[in-house]
Order: sequence, then structure tokens, then C-alpha cells
Amino acid sequence: MIKEMFEDKKIIGVVGLGYVGLPLSTVFSKKYEVIGFDVDKSKIENYSKGIDVTNELEEDTLKNSNIKFSSNPQDLSKANFIIITVPTPIHKDESPDLSYVISATETVASNMKEGTIIVYESTVFPGATEEVCIPIIEEITGFKCGKEFSVGYSPERINPGKNSKDVSDIVKIVSGYDEETTNIISEIYDSVLNNGIYRAPSIKVAEAAKITENIQRDVNIALMNELSIIFDKMDLDTNEIIDAAGTKWNFMKFRPGLVGGHCIGIDPYYLIYKSKKLNYSPRLLQTSRNVNEDIINQIIKNILLTFIDNEVNIKKSNILVLGITFKENCNDIRNSKIVEVIDELKDIGANVTIYDPLADAEEVKTFYDLELSDDIEGEYDSIIIGVSHDEFKDLTIDDINRLSKNKPIVFDLKSLLKELSKEDIVYWSL
Ligand SMILES: NC(=O)c1ccc[n+]([C@@H]2O[C@H](COP(=O)([O-])OP(=O)(O)OC[C@H]3O[C@@H](n4cnc5c(N)ncnc54)[C@H](O)[C@@H]3O)[C@@H](O)[C@H]2O)c1
Repeated sequence: MIKEMFEDKKIIGVVGLGYVGLPLSTVFSKKYEVIGFDVDKSKIENYSKGIDVTNELEEDTLKNSNIKFSSNPQDLSKANFIIITVPTPIHKDESPDLSYVISATETVASNMKEGTIIVYESTVFPGATEEVCIPIIEEITGFKCGKEFSVGYSPERINPGKNSKDVSDIVKIVSGYDEETTNIISEIYDSVLNNGIYRAPSIKVAEAAKITENIQRDVNIALMNELSIIFDKMDLDTNEIIDAAGTKWNFMKFRPGLVGGHCIGIDPYYLIYKSKKLNYSPRLLQTSRNVNEDIINQIIKNILLTFIDNEVNIKKSNILVLGITFKENCNDIRNSKIVEVIDELKDIGANVTIYDPLADAEEVKTFYDLELSDDIEGEYDSIIIGVSHDEFKDLTIDDINRLSKNKPIVFDLKSLLKELSKEDIVYWSL
């Protein structure tokens, strides 16, 4: 049915132009007319001028693209294939916040014509597209799904950051409301991707697959975090243990660390919520979240103990923190866990200098009320390497010595300096 209504000329609309929507728009724009829509007018102004505020694209990509950027919802009515890539955070009580998905769905439904296919890429719990989104569209348009419009789900699997895979190189899971819709969605995605698509048997399977990918990471990192607490008590270096264990062919080399950002540390809560609705309280998922959140306290505890051992008064200490983004080589500061470490240290009374060559100082001020420093020169009681940006990889023992007031005390949360000689420094890593 939808096949007959879907027009031959495909015009793609992308709703929500952030870390996911913007690169995706540029990929589609190589082959199709693309309307990029966002409610954030300043983003639209920047993109229209060729400025990529996400810092995810190669230089000049926007200047060379023919995407029509707009914050006028009516422009979406020209599109017949609309992809929704809006945020899916959690509320304070850790329940899913679908308000962005709902409002984007309302905007699209209020401005769409018959024969439109809407594909969701935002990460949701299994069932959200069919149980939450379709009823909204049917209610607003009076159309019936599978007849006058259709929907699909294709999870986004990019990793933000400069050294990550390009969106066009990732195998894309696609799914549709029915066979016809899945065929159309498959064809359109396949036409712009280098490594093809995977057809999931249903929308729910595609939704569940995405959340499973991220839960697997969260649980495995939690395991390494817990092991690192145990091994630390034995004065053993967890990373040395992982390197040794990793020589077994089927050992998975997850590393301990802070789990921040808006995917790995958030998505498990979507399934925990759904699971509880079905009267099953998932213990492993919840415990993994707790362990990963608690690692902040373990870090603080170790800093305090190390300071006591080395007779440094934390209340009068000067600490240099390298990196504030939620992960390496990207400028995204949302849900960055190193910020929680910084806040704790400041609360205790430490004077903290923060340096991050990628984060936007204004954004850091607005989001976290923290100041970024322009350079790292100074003499510090301690250095915390919070994020392994490429720029920090070249740090030498000479640099560490130069930046240290007395005997260097280094907390290397990303094990960035694990190859360096630690003979004359106090060194702790997760
Ligand atoms: N960032 C990643 O690396 C990544 C990876 C995989 C999946 N995801 C998922 O993709 C989704 C989007 O993530 P993101 O990082 O791109 O988010 P983002 O915050 O960077 O971008 C979302 C954009 O949507 C816009 N927006 C919000 N409500 C809107 C509305 N009603 N209409 C139009 N625009 C609206 C915002 O202004 C923003 O520009 C989330 O569900 C996320 O979990 C993200």
C-alpha cells in the first residue's frame, strides 16, 4: 500500500541536527535533496553559514553540501522520507525522557503529507516506535499506519570523536512497519552506505539490538571497574592484568573507566524501565549501572588516600585536570563524569585548573559553571588525566616533572601514560 503512495522523487527530511543528525544529513545529501530541521535556531544559523558546531565533520563538508537547513517546521512538508534523530535522555528518577521524540513526532505529523515514511534513529526501549509514536501520528493526521504513512527504525551506531568510524562506513540495521516499508527503507539507506544494511525482522528487534549493544559495553566496563577495585587493594595494576589476560584468543579487552556521555551511561535505564514495567527487576543491568556510577567515589577515595600518604593538604592543593569532555577526541561535554570528580574535589576545598583543547569554554561555563584554562603551565600538587585526547598522548615524564610542585602525583584515569617509567612519580590508574 505505502509503495504506491510513496513518490518516486525522494526528499529526505532530518529532524534534530546534533551529533547524529548532522553527519547523517551530509551522507544523504550526496545523493538526495535533504531538508535539515532543528528547533535550535542558532544551530541552523551556524550550519547555514557552513559552521559545524558538533565538530564531527571534515572541514568544508557543510560549505560543499546542498542541505537546506531550516527551523521552520512547514519546510518538512516537502519531504517524503523523514528521519528523526532527537535526544533521548533520562529524567532525574532515571526513567526515559521521551519528550523530544514526542514533540518531534508531533511536529512531523502536523506537517506531513500522505505517503510519508518516518524512520526513528533515536535510541529507545523496544516498543517505543509502535506504542508511543505511531498513535501520535495517527491521532494528529487521521492517517493509518501502513496505509497513508509508514514508520521504521534504524538505530544510530556512530561513536562520536574524530578517530571514529564514518557514518557511511557503518552497517546500518533497518526495520519497517511492514515488508513494503522495510524494502523502501533498505533501498534508501543502502544507496548511501559503503557497507550496506542489515534487515532486522521487526522494529522491536532493531530497537532492542541497539540497546543491547550499549548494555553489553556498560556491563563489561562495570566488570572491569569492579575488578580494578579488588586488584587495587592487592596493589596490582588492572591494565597489566588485562594485557596479560588479553593474550587469550577469546578474552574481551574492556578497560575500567568512567562511563559518561548520553549513550552507554543512559541507554541501560531505558531497558531497566521497560523490564520493570514487565515485572522483572533486572539485577545485573542495575548493578552494572551502580558500579559504574560508584567508580567516581573510588577515584575520590584514592586521591584522598594518596594525598594523605604524600602529606599533601587537599584543602590547599592545586590540581590540574586534563580533559573535561565525556570521551576522547570529541567536544561533547554532556553527562561527563570527570565533572563529578572535579566538583567533589572543589567541594573538599582543592583549587582545580581544567584544561581541554576540544571543549568549548562557554559551553562548559553554561552547563557546569566551571572555567577552562587556556594553557597548562604551572606547578601543581597533582595531575589528573581525565580524558585521553590525542594531544595528551605525547606527555613525557619531563612535562609531568615541569608541571609538578614536588614529587609528581598522577591519577591517570585512562591509563594514557602506562608505558612511561613511573620510577620517580606517584602514579595511580584505574
Ligand atoms: N551522539 C552519539 O554518539 C549517538 C550515537 C548513537 C545513538 N545516539 C542517539 O541518537 C539520538 C540523538 O543523539 P545526538 O547525540 O545527536 O543528540 P544531540 O543533542 O546532539 O542532537 C539532537 C538535536 O535535536 C534537536 N531537537 C530537540 N528536539 C527537537 C524537536 N522537537 N524537533 C527538532 N529538533 C529537535 C536539538 O536541538 C539537537 O540539535 C539520541 O537518541 C542518542 O541516544 C547518539
